[in-house]
Amino acid sequence: MQANSSPPEPVGVELQKQNIVLILIDTLILKKIVKKRERGIVLPYPIFRGNIYAMPNDRLLSTYDRQTVILSNEAVAEAHYLLRCECAEIAQHAHPGQFVHVMISQDTGMLLRRPFTIYTVEGREITMLYQIIGEGTKRLSEMPKDAPLHVLGPLGNTFDFTVKPEPAILVGGGAGIASLMLLAVALRENDIQTLGLVGAQRCARLLSVKDLESIDIEVHIATDDGSIGHHGYVTDILADLLENTAWQRPTVYACGPHGMLSAVAKITADFEVPTQIAMENRMGCAMGVCLGCVCPVRIDTNTIEYQRVCTEGPVFNASDIAWDV
Ligand SMILES: Cc1cc2nc3c(=O)[nH]c(=O)nc-3n(C[C@H](O)[C@H](O)[C@H](O)COP(=O)(O)OP(=O)(O)OC[C@H]3O[C@@H](n4cnc5c(N)ncnc54)[C@H](O)[C@@H]3O)c2cc1C
Ligand code: FES
Repeated sequence: MQANSSPPEPVGVELQKQNIVLILIDTLILKKIVKKRERGIVLPYPIFRGNIYAMPNDRLLSTYDRQTVILSNEAVAEAHYLLRCECAEIAQHAHPGQFVHVMISQDTGMLLRRPFTIYTVEGREITMLYQIIGEGTKRLSEMPKDAPLHVLGPLGNTFDFTVKPEPAILVGGGAGIASLMLLAVALRENDIQTLGLVGAQRCARLLSVKDLESIDIEVHIATDDGSIGHHGYVTDILADLLENTAWQRPTVYACGPHGMLSAVAKITADFEVPTQIAMENRMGCAMGVCLGCVCPVRIDTNTIEYQRVCTEGPVFNASDIAWDV
């Protein structure tokens, strides 16, 4: 049941009248941005001095900030949990690759929300599949059924499969597979042949294999310690498949640790296979204002532009990222 009974309105409805959003940002983040400008790095928007930023954000019109409650929050693998909550408006507007920004608990003193990709959508409910990384995710894992939760979303851009992949190859490292599940469902609904390459440190941390197999996706597994599947990296399987299979128009979609994404980008560049990746940089506001999440994107051979993972991303073409910066 929705904890807040007031009629839901998109975050940006009132602000849109003025086409402006005002947000207070951390002065440390501001200093970081000013330093980048001083080093001559181009940022795609104006910077104001002081600690108030103003910028338009049309996307807020389909973004909802919902107060809800946890329906379930259960361990699904070592240090990994699946959280289910009702957020009807977010569920209705969610697309593959998009994420929510979650206020873990108001009385813990944790001011910043934490971003999690929408793992599944079922009717009015969404789920998030998350790994315990630090204080925020540890506290989240301890929150019981019926605990209140503030969820902002859906946020960010989406994976694209308008040019039909033949096949689509999903590459997920650790909790990165969570970012590919809505995409997997959409691909199968469009009758697109899909392979899932799933990597984990060890068998006890393996995620999503049954969920992928249940929608007729052929799954290949790799673990760092060889406790199940290929002994090595999931990128070994990717390179092997691209080397030895004659596909019509393969397209790779990947999410995982930065090193894995960089390796995927290199392999698929060698095989000239189009590749979309979901970046998971640390975030502040998640609404395009604080610039805490930027990543370097190569515009041409001489120009690097810092783009916001929360707004221009999280999905980027792998070939656009300046991996060496
Ligand atoms: C768009 C997006 C979608 C995401 N989706 C998921 C998801 O579906 N499932 C999931 O498990 N995680 C996801 N993440 C990552 C998740 O948000 C972080 O793991 C979480 O915010 C960590 O919070 P914490 O308070 O537990 O850790 P913190 O206490 O904030 O950090 C603990 C340590 O981990 C490092 N760290 C924190 N966040 C990141 C990060 N994003 N990348 C690298 N190092 C980090 C910190 O530098 C620190 O050393 C996503 C991130 C983004 C940006
Ligand atoms: S997190 Fe603030 S701009 Fe992306």
